[in-house]
Amino acid sequence: MALRKTIRDSSIRKAVFPVAGLGTRFLPATKASPKEMLPVVDKPLIQYAVEEAVAAGVKELIFVTGRGKRAIEDHFDQAFELEHALERGGRTVLLAELRGILPRGVNCIFVRQAEPLGLGHAVLCAQPVVGHEPFAVLLADDLISAKVPALVQMEHLHRSERCSVVAVTRVPRSEISRYGVVALERNSRSPHAITGIVEKPPAAEAPSTLGVVGRYILTPEIFEELSTSTAGRGGEIQLTDAIARLQRRQMVLAHEFVGRRYDCGSKLGYLEANVEFGLRHAETGRDFRRYLRKLGT
Ligand code: UTP
Repeated sequence: MALRKTIRDSSIRKAVFPVAGLGTRFLPATKASPKEMLPVVDKPLIQYAVEEAVAAGVKELIFVTGRGKRAIEDHFDQAFELEHALERGGRTVLLAELRGILPRGVNCIFVRQAEPLGLGHAVLCAQPVVGHEPFAVLLADDLISAKVPALVQMEHLHRSERCSVVAVTRVPRSEISRYGVVALERNSRSPHAITGIVEKPPAAEAPSTLGVVGRYILTPEIFEELSTSTAGRGGEIQLTDAIARLQRRQMVLAHEFVGRRYDCGSKLGYLEANVEFGLRHAETGRDFRRYLRKLGT
């Protein structure tokens, strides 16, 4: 019921999916096929992210694509021949599933990032389509399993507070230097009003152990910050740098979402996601559990 209400009243109509990265950690698998098309059991990562956005009421999906990303366009397009073959074969369940990949009333827009200059630059490429309204950003390689989808949790917060919201999770200090890390007031509780944010700090200099995960709701003022951004860490235009500057003008909240996040941009995280989703899957769960038990003995 609460979810339904969100879908009707959502304050976020547009979501940006930056999918123009090179995916070097998954080479050679990502040489000719986008990282976001890697499947977890039977669905590509990008579809999980799109489902989460649609649950939060998003109607316009804006993909920022680069070279070699045609498979993403094809995935969200109609596949006449395939659908016809399934129809002829009476495979109605599969056909409905295929047709449901893009729900009615939801549109896709593709924007090109000519060069992979960084996540911040990819988000800036979406500005002409987003216009002057708050919008979501979802990184498909962060797969989040949650009873209430993470973006829905964030949208509730955005609707009540009318400000930017970033998703964060507790990270062991030994791993914190792989994340954007938020700075907070002492003894702050979620949702935290952030006082700063730094990209991949050395562990000893990390201002907290709350790492940013790939879900954001941003006010359009972020574009002003991005358009004046210069290359930051790793020579890339970083979204976190722009959020750090936005936070000096407006409140930005960090929401510790309730759910489990899998870092599917890394091999280990991706394997964990496949194991856990495989165990929960209606078709594979039972046999897969039996197989894993046998493997462990
Ligand atoms: P990553 O930091 O995971 O980079 O980008 P990557 O290129 O995808 O992967 P690795 O590190 O080389 O293995 C985070 C997100 O930002 C997008 C990526 O597609 C991913 O969703 N991105 C990154 C862009 O769209 N454009 C860029 O210039 C950089």
